[in-house]
Amino acid sequence: MSEDTKQAKVVIDAAAEEKEKLDAIKKVIETYRDKPGCLIAVLHLAQEIYGCLPLHVQQAIAQGMGETLSHVSGVVSFYSYFSTLPRAQHAIKICMGTACYVRGGKRIVERLEEELGISVGESTPDGKFSIAITRCLGACGLAPVLMIDEDVHQQVNPDKVEKILSKY
Ligand code: FES
Repeated sequence: MSEDTKQAKVVIDAAAEEKEKLDAIKKVIETYRDKPGCLIAVLHLAQEIYGCLPLHVQQAIAQGMGETLSHVSGVVSFYSYFSTLPRAQHAIKICMGTACYVRGGKRIVERLEEELGISVGESTPDGKFSIAITRCLGACGLAPVLMIDEDVHQQVNPDKVEKILSKY
């Protein structure tokens, strides 16, 4: 199979997968459409199906449920459980509690953004890492602190960032 044919197949497979997911979300909407107060349940199920709730999914839900897009987007942004971006393989959370902030947390954020080429709230294009800010992680004595998945990294400084990332 030529490289072009392979690429075309990948595009077709991705389109078919997208359609399958959107059809499944439509079925969820049909099930809940006439039941009042089910928007959150629909959003939960849609996120399970799609992996996240990007704008076009929110639009489909708003239209199907007879809600405004601004109401649906408001609910999505209110609950931290909902995400508009695909979940990355490794979620990096940088503590910006007082102790971590005072001891250089901001410089760690800047170094991570530089190393990964993304900003806080984004995922890398390959879906490997995402960066988010978090509140105190309860390890203030060893600030600044960051978490990658379930691992806590303490007394981090910008020069350690590259080595830490290389473990993932
Ligand atoms: S302020 Fe960062 S762990 Fe407490």
